[in-house]
Amino acid sequence: MKTVSNPLFQKLVSKVEDNLLPLPTTIKELIILDINKTSANDIEGIIQKDQSVVARVLRLANSAFYGFNQRISTIAHAIVCLGFNQVKSLAYTASSQNIMLMGLDNYGFDKDTLFDHSLSVAIGSKVLAEHVGITNPDELYVMGLLHDIGKLIINQYAKEELDKAWNIYKLGSLKFFQAEERVFGFNHGTIGAAIARKWNFPEDICTAIEFHHNPEDAENYIKHVYIVHLANGIAKTLDMGSGIVEQQDVQIEMDGVFHEKNLNKLGLNKFNVLEIRKTIFNTLKEFMTQFRDSAS
Ligand SMILES: [Fe+2]
Ligand SMILES: [Fe+2]
Repeated sequence: MKTVSNPLFQKLVSKVEDNLLPLPTTIKELIILDINKTSANDIEGIIQKDQSVVARVLRLANSAFYGFNQRISTIAHAIVCLGFNQVKSLAYTASSQNIMLMGLDNYGFDKDTLFDHSLSVAIGSKVLAEHVGITNPDELYVMGLLHDIGKLIINQYAKEELDKAWNIYKLGSLKFFQAEERVFGFNHGTIGAAIARKWNFPEDICTAIEFHHNPEDAENYIKHVYIVHLANGIAKTLDMGSGIVEQQDVQIEMDGVFHEKNLNKLGLNKFNVLEIRKTIFNTLKEFMTQFRDSAS
């Protein structure tokens, strides 16, 4: 964990303390449940507290993506058909959608971009975790889903500083997170992790959020951090919500993300990654269409 003590950082953290970026109750309760090792009954109870989440989960469970013949009409039935972990991932996704749709206009993202990008990184992280042999790939899904959460608070409460970062970025020699560091003294991963800690997320999730742009600085949960870093890079190559900001320099970004030293950390090579990228692309394409329909 990086300690940051500067006024902007404190100001942004205080916005979270004042509940100006409220964490959806369903996510909060799912995280607690994950820490305590959950049972199917518990998760059903949590999802049922929010009827909009129930509706979205059921629409997805009934979508062509899963291809069940019979109609799934309750969360309990969805758990039987899709499995506990799959339903949990759907609930995380459905309940994160509202805060994600707050939008990132000052980052140059339109309304859906953050959510599309986050979903891409979530799916990518899970697929990578399965390839790498991580015990609980669904945990990586949550890390991917929430990795850019720091951008929400910066977008809302640090517009002036963000404009300065933009100007530095446009000079062309820095990546956007480095331009953020130059102006803020930290990047959106650092503040995202601080938010996640305020929300009492487990430390592995906080660490993955914190170092997703600079994985070499992480001291713990190294594989988790590199998986989210790589999934973020893959999402950009798939043109999934990289946004105007990061689009400018995709090739340079890619050379860094797919560098052998990064892939080695996960026991992968360029050939593996291309195969994995294909799997991610296919999963994403189908899932995205279903999710858009279910959210409308
Ligand atoms: Fe990021
Ligand atoms: Fe990202």
